[in-house]
Amino acid sequence: MSYSGKTVWITGASSGIGEAFVRAFHQEGANLILSSRREEALTDIKNNLEGDISRVNILPLDLTDSDSFSAKTTEALSFFGQIDVLINNGGISQRATVMDSEMDTFRRLMEVNYFGAVGLTKKVLPHMIEQKSGHIIVTSSVAGKIGTKYRSGYAASKHAVQGFFNSLRQEMYEHNVAVTLLCPGFIKTNISKNALTGDGTKFDKMGDAHSNAMTADEMVSRVMPKIKAKKEEIYVTGFKEGLALWVQRFSPSLLNRILKNQKVT
Ligand SMILES: NC(=O)c1ccc[n+]([C@@H]2O[C@H](COP(=O)([O-])OP(=O)(O)OC[C@H]3O[C@@H](n4cnc5c(N)ncnc54)[C@H](OP(=O)(O)O)[C@@H]3O)[C@@H](O)[C@H]2O)c1
Repeated sequence: MSYSGKTVWITGASSGIGEAFVRAFHQEGANLILSSRREEALTDIKNNLEGDISRVNILPLDLTDSDSFSAKTTEALSFFGQIDVLINNGGISQRATVMDSEMDTFRRLMEVNYFGAVGLTKKVLPHMIEQKSGHIIVTSSVAGKIGTKYRSGYAASKHAVQGFFNSLRQEMYEHNVAVTLLCPGFIKTNISKNALTGDGTKFDKMGDAHSNAMTADEMVSRVMPKIKAKKEEIYVTGFKEGLALWVQRFSPSLLNRILKNQKVT
C-alpha cells in the first residue's frame, strides 16, 4: 500500500516515536500534518526531512486543550482537504510511586494520554465516516497491558486507551475506519526524561532500560508493514517486555511476583 496522496496527521511529532513516524510516512509519499506543543521543534523536523517538504504542514497543538480540537481539526482539513490516518501518539510518562504522586499528576497523565487521544479522535471521526474510510492509530504501550511500580497513572491512562479504542473499533467496522493499538515496550526516546515525578516536575533522567532499547526509527521500520496491513494490535518489544506479556497470559500472579523485584526505571 502506498501513502501517496493520503494525509497523515501525527501528534507528538516533535520527538521520539512521532518524529520517526514523520520520517517514515514522508518516505512513503504521504501528505503530513505535524502536531505537538513546540512549534520550533516541529519546524526543525520538517526542514530536516529529505526531499520535497512542500506537502508537510505544522499544526501546533496542546493535547490538554480539548477546547481547541474542533478548530485544529478544521485547520488540519484545510491543508489537504482530507485526513486518512490520525496517529494519536503524543504522550507523557511517570516516575513516582502512588504515595508520592499528587492528584494533579494523575490528572495530567489522563488528560494528555487518554483525553487528548479521545478528544481529537472524536473530532476527526465524522470526516472519516463521511469519506467512508480512515485509520486511527494510537500509541498505547506494554503499560496498557501490565501495571508496574512508578507508572500507576501512566499505566492507568494506557489501560484506558486500550479499553476506549477496542470499543471504538467495533463501532467503526461498518464505517470502514480501522483502529490500531500500537503497544511498544522500551524504546530509546526522551520519554523518561520528560516523565512526570510525583509533584509534576520532569524526571529529567534517562533510565538504563530506555538507553539500551531499540531506537524509534528501528521500532517504526518494524511496525510499518503491520500498520499498512491495518493490524488491530501491534506489539514491538525487547526480550524482557515480550516475555512479561507472555507470562502474564498464562500466570498473572507469577508475573506480579517477578515484577515486584524488578528495576523498572
Ligand atoms: N519510549 C518508550 O519507551 C515508549 C513505550 C511505550 C509507549 N510509548 C508512547 O509513545 C508515545 C511517544 O512517546 P516517545 O517515546 O516518543 O516520547 P517523547 O520523545 O518524550 O515524545 C513525546 C511527544 O509527545 C508530545 N507531547 C507531550 N505532551 C504533550 C501535550 N500536552 N500536547 C501535545 N503534545 C505533547 C511531545 O511534544 P511537545 O513537547 O512538543 O509537546 C513529544 O512530541 C507516547 O504516547 C508514549 O506513551 C513510548
